[in-house]
Amino acid sequence: MTDTNNIFTKFLASKPIFSNRDALTISFKPETIPHREKQVNDLGRILAPALKGGRPSNIFLYGRPGTGKTLVSRFVGSELEKISGENGQSVKVMYVNCKMKKIADTEYRLLAELSKALGKEVPFTGLPTDQVYNAFFDALDSRKQTIILIVDEIDTLVQKTGDEILYNLTRINQDLNNSKLSIIGITNNLGFIETLDPRVKSSLSEEELIFPPYNALQLQDILKNRASIAFTQDVLQPGVIEKCAALAAQEHGDARRALDLLRVAGELSERNSHEKVSIEHVDDAEEKIDVDRVVETVKSMPKQSQIVLYSIVFLAEKTKEIQTGEVFDKYQEICKQQGIKTLTTRRVSDLISELDLSSVISTKIVSKGRYGRTRVISLNLSDTVYNKLKNLLEEIFL
Ligand SMILES: Nc1ncnc2c1ncn2[C@@H]1O[C@H](COP(=O)(O)OP(=O)(O)O)[C@@H](O)[C@H]1O
Ligand SMILES: [Mg+2]
Repeated sequence: MTDTNNIFTKFLASKPIFSNRDALTISFKPETIPHREKQVNDLGRILAPALKGGRPSNIFLYGRPGTGKTLVSRFVGSELEKISGENGQSVKVMYVNCKMKKIADTEYRLLAELSKALGKEVPFTGLPTDQVYNAFFDALDSRKQTIILIVDEIDTLVQKTGDEILYNLTRINQDLNNSKLSIIGITNNLGFIETLDPRVKSSLSEEELIFPPYNALQLQDILKNRASIAFTQDVLQPGVIEKCAALAAQEHGDARRALDLLRVAGELSERNSHEKVSIEHVDDAEEKIDVDRVVETVKSMPKQSQIVLYSIVFLAEKTKEIQTGEVFDKYQEICKQQGIKTLTTRRVSDLISELDLSSVISTKIVSKGRYGRTRVISLNLSDTVYNKLKNLLEEIFL
């Protein structure tokens, strides 16, 4: 029998693992930014003319996810605002993350959002686009100031609204009388800049800054700084930081991944009322993060994609390299069972490519000699993740 009075006693009695868990979350602002001295200095140098009333060049920042782009740009931006205030200059730094829902879904939304940040309320719907433009323009030009606009995840903006808005923003200085506007564009998508209209491309990337992946040793430094704030004394067992850093270094040097691993490892230890965070907790954390990611991706997929994935998961039981043809046969069978309309082979093939992009599956083209080329599919998931995925899909379709 469970003694209901005491189910929390063990939890309370155990020594706390975290002293400040927030230090391992994305919203935390670290005091120092190790291994980004060059990027911080370069960005600072490029923006400095704003302190003397000039217009800094537009800048393009790019690098893989978790390489510190958002952190560095916001840090340098706030330092710049701080010092400009002290020197009686007017520099305003604005930040938009285009991945955020409702902020940059349409050109209208974004302009309304920016006008609001500049102190001019615009209704969130209803005005003709040129009127929103005018409102934004007036807000921008209302006083003598240099405005630095950080457009984070800029590729999603272009995906959603096209690149005309960027064209307009980069041309706006020709018409401004009082203020000046500079744009910092940020993207994880390394090929993005090449997809832009050449005129937009050349004005956006007057300067470029590259954020290379962190290596394992650099990630260790980043983790050590944050861990010393996040964890109580001596709870981390030797090798924990090194393991998180090594795993994240394999994932294109992603500091976010490294911090997530360390945080989840701590949470797992805490949840089990353990005294220490061990290397085993890091292994479990890796699995938990992967499971959560897959579950989330699958739940948000359209039904047809789920059926395609279910077919692949089913076939993966028997073979490591799955042929597209087999997937289609299985897919048709499941559709029939479920009473769902089947799509054409071509559409199914597109859905397979999308699954590949979301990295739940991986595909490669193999040559079949004189029989041409064919695509083979594999699932590179650990047993636990595979089983979770299979259970989830069975729950949906049984
Ligand atoms: N050099 C660094 N020092 C401390 N923390 C870092 C460093 N680089 C990245 N981080 C942390 O890693 C996470 C991801 O960084 P972020 O700037 O969001 O990456 P990106 O924008 O390139 O995807 C954030 O929590 C950030 O605070
Ligand atoms: Mg970012």
